[in-house]
Amino acid sequence: MDMTATFSNHGGTIMVVDDKPSNLKLLGKMLREKGYVVRIFPKGELALKSAIIDPPDVILLDINMPEIDGFEVCRQLKENEKTQELPVIFISALTDTHDKIKAFKLGGVDYITKPFQIEEVHARVALQLSLKRIKTALEEKNTVLEKTLRDLQIAQQQLIMSEKMAALGILVAGIAHEINNPVNFIKTGIMGLQQDIFDLKKLLNAYERCTVKCPDHMFGQQITALKEEIDYPLLSNEIPELVKNILEGVRRTEQIINSMRTYSRMDDVKREKTDIHKLIDAALVILNNRCKNQIIIKRYDQPLPGLYVHPGKLIQVLINIISNAIDALLENDLPVQPTLTIKTSQTSREGRDYGVIEISDNGPGIPKENLSRIFDPFFTTKDVGHGTGLGLSISIGIMKDHHGTIDVKSSDNKETVFSILLPLEQEVL
Ligand SMILES: Nc1ncnc2c1ncn2[C@@H]1O[C@H](COP(=O)(O)OP(=O)(O)OP(=O)(O)O)[C@@H](O)[C@H]1O
Ligand SMILES: [Mg+2]
Repeated sequence: MDMTATFSNHGGTIMVVDDKPSNLKLLGKMLREKGYVVRIFPKGELALKSAIIDPPDVILLDINMPEIDGFEVCRQLKENEKTQELPVIFISALTDTHDKIKAFKLGGVDYITKPFQIEEVHARVALQLSLKRIKTALEEKNTVLEKTLRDLQIAQQQLIMSEKMAALGILVAGIAHEINNPVNFIKTGIMGLQQDIFDLKKLLNAYERCTVKCPDHMFGQQITALKEEIDYPLLSNEIPELVKNILEGVRRTEQIINSMRTYSRMDDVKREKTDIHKLIDAALVILNNRCKNQIIIKRYDQPLPGLYVHPGKLIQVLINIISNAIDALLENDLPVQPTLTIKTSQTSREGRDYGVIEISDNGPGIPKENLSRIFDPFFTTKDVGHGTGLGLSISIGIMKDHHGTIDVKSSDNKETVFSILLPLEQEVL
């Protein structure tokens, strides 16, 4: 078989190391004729130095040489970062299998026995060159794949961040909405009051005119005495001032609400001793307008100690899980009254005590085949634009940060129960 036909020769630099000048000459000539660039070395030491400075593509290395032999040259090549990947083909007159095994153990990639056939040498060199090219191409592909993976991870992180921001947006929008309502009551009330005071002042002015006309009348005297008693001039100046101050307060609160809407950000780096029940209250206030009076909310609170948590993050977990329950209850025509139940309790697991927040809904349930996937990033059964599939994966990440976990129990047409477990004994970070 013509092996040269199998391995095409694209050139390459071959280093030949042999202490016999006749061998060097012969191999050099034959390989040059095959189109390779050949560098010949009569001594291992020189070859080593040259290989480090300018690594060839393949090394043909004689085993039996004085001073440093081929095995030692190979060992030193493999020790050096710059040369350890170079393919070494050993050449030897020895046919001893022991030598061959040693050659491969030292990292040699092939073995040629003297006297050699040039076609065989060429075929073996060409094979190593072609393997080297494949390896380089694979390494390049690998680099591209690694970069793609990194880019994907970054994109995922960014999505997670934007999901966090979206959750925060809901939170802030909910709070702003809840504050806005009472502020509006105050504003409308004070404006009505302003009009009422204006009207009352007209009445008082009429009384005043009466006292001027009939200063000796009994009622006139009473009114004048009363005016003095309450310091009427001061009062009539003070009232508009007080109203003005209240309106200014309202205006500033409205400004704060607008800032909250515009600059929503989460400065939640520190854990704080948190009343879990208050956190649940806050989550429910925020989600209140999503329940649209269609969902019955039941609460069963059992005593829980204050826990050191990141309130802003933990509320995200509550909001994510309660939102999912609300989605499940509102998106489906249920044969029962949609009900969301939130219970707190304490439990022990593997010798550790946990506070438990159990959030359950009587929605359609989670099919068995989906149950193991709901915590995977991007797993969603919701329409495009309605769910990113990140809510639960973010939540489980937050729970891991808190050394806690989330359990879920559900199946088709059964109640879905998410249990958030938080260790009761926590380090204060
Ligand atoms: N209470 C529940 N009832 C039924 N299915 C649920 C419930 N909670 C979660 N799921 C299922 O788990 C999936 C993943 O939930 P996850 O919160 O991670 O993402 P999502 O709600 O689809 O989207 P996102 O929260 O990012 O807006 C949901 O699409 C839904 O199929
Ligand atoms: Mg969700």
